[in-house]
Amino acid sequence: MNVEKLQDPSEIIQEKLQEASEKTTPSILASVFTLATYDKESGFPDCRNMVMQKFNQAETSFTFYTVESSDKAKQLTKHPFASLCFYWKPLQIQMRAQGIVVEVSEEEIEQAWSERSRSSQLFLLASRQGEIIETPQLLRNELDRLQEENENVEIFKRPKKWKGFKLVPKSVEFWFDRDRSIKNSVPLRIRFLRRLKQLKTQKARLAFGKWERKIVWP
Ligand SMILES: Cc1cc2nc3c(=O)[nH]c(=O)nc-3n(C[C@H](O)[C@H](O)[C@H](O)COP(=O)(O)O)c2cc1C
Repeated sequence: MNVEKLQDPSEIIQEKLQEASEKTTPSILASVFTLATYDKESGFPDCRNMVMQKFNQAETSFTFYTVESSDKAKQLTKHPFASLCFYWKPLQIQMRAQGIVVEVSEEEIEQAWSERSRSSQLFLLASRQGEIIETPQLLRNELDRLQEENENVEIFKRPKKWKGFKLVPKSVEFWFDRDRSIKNSVPLRIRFLRRLKQLKTQKARLAFGKWERKIVWP
């Protein structure tokens, strides 16, 4: 792949994500990214690591899941603009994106729930992410209680508090480290930009233009 020539960042993301997961142990760690949000009340930016559950190549969007009571969910509801950053260490590539965050559709979240393991579903049923807990023992007790109560239940119903968001970027930027095996090799920084707007009639829908590509001084 000649990244210097590509006009669409999603081709690069798709290929590098695949390559990074083959070279990362456990492979899920290649899907871990830092999500930065803005807390309107305190005025501070906030960030944390998350697992990307889906990359949509057609719209270049990144889907992740969390719990409604969490700080990030509250921040995104008030201010649906965010940034994310991946570092694929085995490839020495950084990828960052900035965009609008919308909730995923009911069908998509239902599908994602059904693909979760039983233990992960149980943990999410118990979750009150973001609330103060007096001792971790309370979480253990809650998990035991749910386990016992649902011993004969085959499929857990998705709790409404579990939310899916996707970040649809207006900009994506890559940093490819220099190739140390080649003399005079330099880092390559490529930025892709596109127009992005939220449709007033349907807030969950976004319209975006074609990607424009710029090489940036590293
Ligand atoms: C590697 C890693 C992956 C994580 N993935 C998620 C995730 O997909 N969803 C989530 O809600 N929290 C995830 N967490 C926990 C978050 O980093 C964070 O602690 C939690 O969501 C509370 O964040 P908030 O208070 O900013 O909302 C992950 C933590 C780590 C270390």
